[in-house]
Amino acid sequence: EKSGYAHFMLKEIEEQPRAYRDTLGGRIDEQDKSIVFPDMLMGLEQIRDMEQIHLVGCGTAYHAALVGKTIIEQLTRIPVEVDVASEYRYRQPIITKKTLVIAVSQSGETADTLAAITQAKLSGARVLGITNVVGSSVSREADFQLMTWAGPEIAVASTKAYTSQLIALYLLALYIGQSKGSIEQSLRAELIDKLNKLPEQVQSLLANTSQIQRIAEQIAAFKDLYFMGRGLDYMVAMEASLKLKEISYIHSEAYPAGEMKHGSLALIEEGTPIIALATQEHVLEKTISNIREVKARGAYVIGIAFEGNLELAKAADEVIYVPRTDALLAPALSVIPLQLLAYYTALARGNDVDKPRNLAKSVTVE
Ligand code: M6R
Repeated sequence: EKSGYAHFMLKEIEEQPRAYRDTLGGRIDEQDKSIVFPDMLMGLEQIRDMEQIHLVGCGTAYHAALVGKTIIEQLTRIPVEVDVASEYRYRQPIITKKTLVIAVSQSGETADTLAAITQAKLSGARVLGITNVVGSSVSREADFQLMTWAGPEIAVASTKAYTSQLIALYLLALYIGQSKGSIEQSLRAELIDKLNKLPEQVQSLLANTSQIQRIAEQIAAFKDLYFMGRGLDYMVAMEASLKLKEISYIHSEAYPAGEMKHGSLALIEEGTPIIALATQEHVLEKTISNIREVKARGAYVIGIAFEGNLELAKAADEVIYVPRTDALLAPALSVIPLQLLAYYTALARGNDVDKPRNLAKSVTVE
């Protein structure tokens, strides 16, 4: 039931603080500032044995997996590869007994993701399923499972499932890191404290949508739009771009900010909207110089940055601010205004937000 909301998508966006809390729930030992996974059953030995990780998923789940790669590599130093499931199955990936394959799927029923699991198991790898549906095919096929507790997601455009997958991947990266001893106790405690703050920070982002509604009205008139960012910002840009095109039918693409001048700058015309994510402050100067490049070609730049980032305010035409957190956790906040932007843009164009044309919620055929 929509419980008074105009659309399931808006209801699901607003449920995110609860979804974050539920996905974190019972998995943090506050005394010890450590991660506990009573439900996952992956033993220490298996973790210590692991030489590489492969993450697979489709669509939004693939985008969550991309964020997963960065955080797992940073916190555990285990090499991680990410594949779209439909590519993984046909590219003869190098899978060994020391590979952990992590399948990410909201529904747990996506045909390509299931096929990737079969392939991984045939090659002797262990499989961990990250799913949102208890008893789904992915959770049954996998050796281990890590549930996201987003609750049923009805809108075709995935929102709370994506962010819950991010939370699950943060917990997993910390868990592997603590089991391997690759992460300092102080950093672990700091990240855990910051994870605990996310639900409240998301709540504050949801409380004020007037700026986003205004920008949505503006961009609804355009045929093309671009997202850009570096590192984790680029991964979120890909998800934001998918969300926007899926429900607004506006053509959009996401680019690594540094790549624009290698070809895509040619697309920029007077007034072309570009959403520039700039939460990754270790590359802020670089991103700002990329913003200058697109502005010089006439782009209208909307920045996404942490509160207090005045440098971006000077470089962009306007900025959507998100509460400050660790750079690694930024995707769990920066995606929220972009989900809302996709929603309000689709609404402004009079589209069927919950059931976009040509798409199904669960893709159970290859
Ligand atoms: O159920 P799954 O997570 O396996 O679904 C994967 C994709 O089909 C799904 O995320 C799709 O890309 C969404 N419609 C995006 O909003």
